[in-house]
Amino acid sequence: MTQKIAILPGDGIGPEITAQAVRLLDKLIAQGLDAEYEYAPLGGAAYDQYGSPYPEATQTLCRAADAVLLGAVGGPQYDTLPRPVRPERGLLAIRKDLNLFANLRPAVLFPELADASTLKPEVVAGLDILIVRELTGDIYFGEPRGIRTLDNGEREGFNTMRYRESEIRRIAKVSFEAAQRRNKKLCSVDKANVLETTELWKEIFTEVSKDYPDVELSHMYVDNAAMQLVRAPKQFDVIATGNIFGDILSDQASMLTGSIGMLPSASLDENGKGLYEPSHGSAPDIAGQNKANPLATVLSLAMLLRYSLKDEARAAQVENAVQKVLQQGFRTADIAEAGAKVLSCSQMGDALLDAL
Ligand code: NAD
Ligand code: IPM
Ligand code: MN
Repeated sequence: MTQKIAILPGDGIGPEITAQAVRLLDKLIAQGLDAEYEYAPLGGAAYDQYGSPYPEATQTLCRAADAVLLGAVGGPQYDTLPRPVRPERGLLAIRKDLNLFANLRPAVLFPELADASTLKPEVVAGLDILIVRELTGDIYFGEPRGIRTLDNGEREGFNTMRYRESEIRRIAKVSFEAAQRRNKKLCSVDKANVLETTELWKEIFTEVSKDYPDVELSHMYVDNAAMQLVRAPKQFDVIATGNIFGDILSDQASMLTGSIGMLPSASLDENGKGLYEPSHGSAPDIAGQNKANPLATVLSLAMLLRYSLKDEARAAQVENAVQKVLQQGFRTADIAEAGAKVLSCSQMGDALLDAL
């Protein structure tokens, strides 16, 4: 059956980077991939068109799709809108609506980019870690939340960090299974020395570990994990953590790969349906200049082919194309060594198309 893909370019550099991935998708379809795609707006683009960051038309398309490919959302022009209609709310809403609780963010260093990292090449050479971030709970969604005025007239902002056992258990299973397919080491990151929510997190991970005796489970406080990620990142195989810690640690881990423009992600539900997007944002500072790195988005397309379309061969084909253009010395500005020839976003797309 023809697989349906929803494409949500979003805001800022979103349309530029998504366009490169779609060019590759077009070629794969021309070569026989049984898939079709349709565009819909999300984020600021959707707000501009429909007054909502996750409008009904987008909901309908994405619910019916087998997979969703997203660029990025957000921009300074939307930062003063009421919170419920801001672009970021649209992103949170689609994650929740599609039950995309498992966010996989692989930080893999392509050997050609060892010098692009701000860390010493020997610290990052051979790096291959997977961050499993819980995506539909935690302080991102916990109620109550808001800004209220106290009796003395002072305002107070408040959010609530919450996790239910069932939410922790299902992300623990995903994490252990991912570790089983890799080097069988799982580090659960928490702040159990201070926060009850993550004390429960730690307890459930320990409990679930009994079902995975072949996986070595360790625990680490998030502050230490942030330090260890830059001190000796290769000690990690799979890192599992909650929504907010995973957001922060994955941006940090991206620099181990040379640039945030290299870090793809898959956000999965319980049945293999997924949303695929680069881990970075809409990069307003370089939007519209055709200089963003499209590789994180292209690698997200590879994850889409692997996890939702179950097409390992084409997923590998896309990843090999990325490897090849890097071997050929093609670089966008964010990963270029001094003196290297810098390609635009669409020129990188040209090179990828040739390599595919
Ligand atoms: P950002 O990730 O957009 O940008 C951070 C820095 O990284 C910028 O200097 C940017 O130019 C650079 N960068 C990011 N992606 C790049 C790429 N592909 N190639 C080259 N350079 C790249 O983070 P920010 O500036 O904190 O946020 C900007 C907007 O994006 C905000 O509105 C934020 O809410 C939103 N955001 C959206 C997502 C998402 O859609 N998943 C993720 C993060 C931030
Ligand atoms: C990400 C982003 C989002 C998040 C924002 C834009 C809501 O930073 O995808 O990492 O915090 O999850
Ligand atoms: Mn983030």
